[in-house]
Amino acid sequence: MAHGTTHEHDVIIIGGGGAGLRASIAIAQENPDFSVACVSKVYPMRSHTVTAEGGAAAKIKPNDSLEDHIYDTISGADWLADQDAVEYFVNEAPTEMIQLEHWGCPWSREPDGSVAVRPFGGMKIERTWFAADKTGFHMLHSLFQTTLKYGNIVRYDEHFATRLLIDGNGRCRGCAAIELRTGTVRAILGKAVIICTGGAGRVFPFTTNGSIKTGDGMSMAYRAGVALKDMEFIQYHPTGLPGTGILITEASRGEGGILVNKDGYRYLQDYELGEALDVSDPRHPQKRAMELGPRDRLSQCFIKERWAGRTIETKDGHVVHLDLRHLGEAKIDKKIPFVRELSRNYAGIDPVYKPIPVRPVVHYVMGGIDVDSNSATSVPGLYAAGECACVSINGANRLGSNSLTELLVFGAQAGRHAARFAMDNPDYDVPDLEAQAEDEGARIRRAWFDTSRKDGERIVTLRTELHEAMEDGAGIYRNADSLQAACETIADLHERYRNVTLDDHTNSFNTELTAALELGSLLDVAEAMAHSAVERTESRGSHQRLDHTERNDDDFLAHSMAFHQNDGSPPRIEYKPVTITKWPPGARTYGAGSGLKKSEST
Ligand code: FUM
Repeated sequence: MAHGTTHEHDVIIIGGGGAGLRASIAIAQENPDFSVACVSKVYPMRSHTVTAEGGAAAKIKPNDSLEDHIYDTISGADWLADQDAVEYFVNEAPTEMIQLEHWGCPWSREPDGSVAVRPFGGMKIERTWFAADKTGFHMLHSLFQTTLKYGNIVRYDEHFATRLLIDGNGRCRGCAAIELRTGTVRAILGKAVIICTGGAGRVFPFTTNGSIKTGDGMSMAYRAGVALKDMEFIQYHPTGLPGTGILITEASRGEGGILVNKDGYRYLQDYELGEALDVSDPRHPQKRAMELGPRDRLSQCFIKERWAGRTIETKDGHVVHLDLRHLGEAKIDKKIPFVRELSRNYAGIDPVYKPIPVRPVVHYVMGGIDVDSNSATSVPGLYAAGECACVSINGANRLGSNSLTELLVFGAQAGRHAARFAMDNPDYDVPDLEAQAEDEGARIRRAWFDTSRKDGERIVTLRTELHEAMEDGAGIYRNADSLQAACETIADLHERYRNVTLDDHTNSFNTELTAALELGSLLDVAEAMAHSAVERTESRGSHQRLDHTERNDDDFLAHSMAFHQNDGSPPRIEYKPVTITKWPPGARTYGAGSGLKKSEST
């Protein structure tokens, strides 16, 4: 590995996906004299935002209201969302979406030229903006091309940040990052830092998440002393393709697709998610009910159907069928062409003629780096936004299509606040920070380039064991024993991780080294997930305990906060109150009992 070099900027953003690019633009606009560094493990257009399909939520139509978007989000979150954050999010959302259109995002339109919206799960009304079913691609492209207009945004593509640099006063001043092309560890310094590194679905074996989503930013913040908040809440999307985990977008249900079991029966009608409507019924689909219920409930229903022996066994596990045939070829090709393409290419099924086999798949981490309502962490100068952060608007279950909007709203907010912090706190001590980056380079060399160490642990062995422990112990349904077993396995894997050996000791694009570093991030994140889940002895949203089946607001209307322990002992779990403003916790109901008038739900 090459020795370190130092680069100085004003604000550093770690992550080049939607949140990172939106934050970069906000800083460049806030202070045109600032130098903004965007440090990304991959070329920005390869960030996971590019894969998002179905759309982004924001009130735009006259029949919708900000109040309804807030209510849907809070109730969908099983009342664990901070209501001040949700209000801010919903109020800012339309402006951000229109801004993105001005930057070039080709939102799909109605024949009259107005923005088209579609229904998504858990929402009272159609409010999901979309660009066919390649929404993430178009959003990321619009953001990326906009960053190119700003000469003061400097990109560090294919730089893997591995450590935050903290000065003697406890303030975050940058990161150490490996330039993957050369193996050089650089100190990239600034007056404020924003982490926008996305989620950590790769903690699990079956996920929609790209291989880059390994929780690196969460792990860096955790090791720097910031709590990881609400990590027990992991979202399973109800409709992934078996085998690959490729997402079949919720838009396919928004456009009218139905889920049936092995008997061809629309089983969701048996689970307090509203009554069945005939497929040919012109009112179909029913909003905030049945196939447009929330993701946590739909994924739980799949497991119950499986336990009842009503799912279909395939070589890639049990599935149910997503039937789109009644939509017809023209509608499928116009509204969800990518669903057809993916189903044909990855399942050998043309949904115009045959139902698509689907099963729940890990999709999103509701928890993340604890930030306040200004996107600031507890470490001065350190901010976070997007899936890696927990602000928290998603609580115990995120509503589909809120996350793309979240990365715009909070990417912009984090950018503005970090820029102001950097303007107010301009000085820092470079030599001390350079020394920290050199230490980091030395640590990596010692850990991974010691050629005398042979026959140690293999990355793939540890990662496979981690996957098994998380799938068996911390899946859709959990209990004390399964979670405890996961915690023990993770502790053992952490020990064995110290002894991983690499075969590749080269400097340029050493993907084995990258995989080793990512495994370290996965273990940290898994530890926080499993321990937070053990401690939460209730069922809420996506966290369903077979040994504690009820929601318990008296004891657990609170955010879990997992703190890393430097001595290798398990994380300390604390709790912090949820901010409740105008929406007192209530029963979480869907279908006709969900607070909708019958006429509204159809
Ligand atoms: O189904 C989807 O298109 C996913 C959307 C989301 O996670 O927000």
